[in-house]
Amino acid sequence: MRPFDGAFAARVVAWQQQHGRNHLPWQNTRDPYRVWLSEVMLQQTQVVTVLAYFERFVARFPDVNSLAQATLDEVLGLWSGLGYYSRARNLHRCAQSVMELHDGVFPNTAAALESLPGIGRSTAAAIASLCFHERVAILDANVKRVVTRVVGFDADLAQAANVRALWDAATALLPMTRTAANDMARYTQGMMDLGAIVCLPKKPGCGNCPVRIDCVAANAGDPQRYPVRTRKLKRSSQAIWLLCAQTDEGAVWLSKRPTPGVWAGLHCFPLYDSEVELLMEVPLGLRKYLQPVPAFTHVLTHKDLHLHLWRLVLPAEVARNVQWHAGRWVTEDAWPALGLPAPIRKLL
Ligand code: ADE
Repeated sequence: MRPFDGAFAARVVAWQQQHGRNHLPWQNTRDPYRVWLSEVMLQQTQVVTVLAYFERFVARFPDVNSLAQATLDEVLGLWSGLGYYSRARNLHRCAQSVMELHDGVFPNTAAALESLPGIGRSTAAAIASLCFHERVAILDANVKRVVTRVVGFDADLAQAANVRALWDAATALLPMTRTAANDMARYTQGMMDLGAIVCLPKKPGCGNCPVRIDCVAANAGDPQRYPVRTRKLKRSSQAIWLLCAQTDEGAVWLSKRPTPGVWAGLHCFPLYDSEVELLMEVPLGLRKYLQPVPAFTHVLTHKDLHLHLWRLVLPAEVARNVQWHAGRWVTEDAWPALGLPAPIRKLL
């Protein structure tokens, strides 16, 4: 690997200032609460989607104390539709840890931030560099692509030892110690922006890239070769039968999913492993109200869920006398605020 003399970082910083994203609502602040929240939201979600959620979230929870005081249900409700709900559960736990262990003040080093729930090495470094100008490298998926291409890192990232080596490479690219401290935030943002705007997976914009001159992959003409990762995600599939019980007044029967498991902590229709089990839960006299709905597939990170639905639309006076395990009738004005799995929300 070639040594870097700070020129690479200086090019990233200069480019970010002119061409990077500088007006997102979590920028132009050094409030670690807002930066932390945005980083967690952005972990698996695109900026355009995060914008609306971020605004709603900070309007309801303007600081870490208000978030810590909230119920998990309310947090999941505001998160509903963003997916990857473990992020919301960790967010809530993290807010409580900041209150209990740090008197409501976020720690100001990457090492201390990383000890909090849901904050990994890259998120900790993002917060520490953006808010406190600590000289630490981030390495999310976008930045991995930038760094592997720049240094020509072709070792397999399916292996942990190679990922550790890539962290070292990312650290070697950082601005030199004596660079104006303010550059650290801009450098971090610049690396994210390069990954999101220029150094794209299939169409790298090498013609517009400020670090084309430094880039081993671009100079060899094969940037798409990077990053190298052999292991394919092992996918599984699962079939689920859902009983979508509704009243003719628009209430739906929802129960809270147990933790752990699919959709843990979210509100959902009663859910069964087979059609027989579902039908057995519908009293004989009510089966005339059943209607099948065409099955569809919902894709999760590691799993395809094949969802089979039965609708059961009951007259309200009939509905009053039936119930399923551990749930309740939720009226039309109440369910939108609950945390619901994305496909359930869509169906409703
Ligand atoms: N992705 C992760 N963090 C981000 C940030 N701060 N700005 C834009 N995209 C991001």
